[in-house]
Amino acid sequence: MKAKSILFTPIKLGPIEIPNRFVRSATHDFLAEKDGSVTDKQVLLFTHLAKGEVGLIITGHAYVSLQGKASPYQIAVDEDKSIEGLQNITEAVHAYPSRIFLQLSHAGRQTKPKLCQCTPQSPSAVYEPIYKVMPKEMTSQEIHQVIEDFVSASRRAKQAGFDGVQLHVAHGYLLSSFISPYTNRRQDEWGGTLANRLRIVVEIIRAIKRIRGQDFALTVKLNSTDFLPQGLKLEESVKIAAELEREGIDGIEVSGGTAEAGQGSIWKGLRSEDQEGYFIQSAARIKSAISIPVIGLGGIRSFSIMEKFIQEGQVDLISMSRPFIRAPYLVKKFREGKIKKSECISCNKCFNLRGISCAELKRG
Ligand SMILES: Cc1cc2nc3c(=O)[nH]c(=O)nc-3n(C[C@H](O)[C@H](O)[C@H](O)COP(=O)(O)O)c2cc1C
Ligand code: SF4
Repeated sequence: MKAKSILFTPIKLGPIEIPNRFVRSATHDFLAEKDGSVTDKQVLLFTHLAKGEVGLIITGHAYVSLQGKASPYQIAVDEDKSIEGLQNITEAVHAYPSRIFLQLSHAGRQTKPKLCQCTPQSPSAVYEPIYKVMPKEMTSQEIHQVIEDFVSASRRAKQAGFDGVQLHVAHGYLLSSFISPYTNRRQDEWGGTLANRLRIVVEIIRAIKRIRGQDFALTVKLNSTDFLPQGLKLEESVKIAAELEREGIDGIEVSGGTAEAGQGSIWKGLRSEDQEGYFIQSAARIKSAISIPVIGLGGIRSFSIMEKFIQEGQVDLISMSRPFIRAPYLVKKFREGKIKKSECISCNKCFNLRGISCAELKRG
């Protein structure tokens, strides 16, 4: 019965066909080695998600350069030596119909000097109160280096067998901080107008498009709002999405929030069915302005709600993170009609330096 749902119909993201509408939203798993190389535990985690029939799996954010490292045990894509380990992940996933994208990220000012072995970088020197960091304003040369780092990382992702990449332009990380008027106060060609603030992302997209070849999707995870008084607002993010579509990206996942606003992207607490999908309205607003597929997320838990979001044309794909930590086989269970709703209660106890896992599940 469930298998006839629109959620089990395929959809194309540019050149790549996704077998169903379920996306595992990027999830940093704290499972890489200290130097960022891939571990067997990660290969197993992605194997379970593919076996569990997730249509599109997006990895945790992978750092494109050491200066852009955000967290311990984060996956690396900053050097060619990363390719072999990453390939173990794609080979495991491609034994199943699932597709897999690597999320490419630079932490910007949301890191610690000890982690990135640097003074954290930012478009402008705006203090970050959560990480307690005064970042340095990047030079034009450093901005060009970051562009190159994203392009090299994308080339490595392709060589490792990924079906595409997702640029992390959300949650206050470097690219997100460039598009935000709060953190980007530059007066040169990289700041000021919306076109200038978006320039770094556009340059990365153009350069990746030149080298990506065929059968490789290029997507973006976009902040719809920073939740900061002087930060990015939905109105501007709609214009950004339209511009990114003109630049030729294949799909957009719509998120929001920043740590320093006290309102991030991972909202805690159980919500009723009518409160599921806390970024869906923003995603729907963006979808109304573009024609490439839009991926929606934010506390979505119920099969019927997922179906409704797609049937009503608010989004094209449904993305989740925590429900797949709770149950990697969720999609399969939905298809078999064994379950109607994820059992994840959004308590956020899955963050664990020794590797993500559902604390509630262990409790029984
Ligand atoms: C443990 C954990 C790690 C996350 N890591 C990332 C990440 O690396 N990149 C990213 O864009 N979002 C990350 N997120 C946010 C999720 O992708 C997602 O947007 C958010 O959790 C809301 O979806 P959910 O309610 O289905 O969990 C993470 C979330 C969790 C719970
Ligand atoms: S600990 Fe388990 S129930 Fe709580 S948010 Fe994480 S996955 Fe969901």
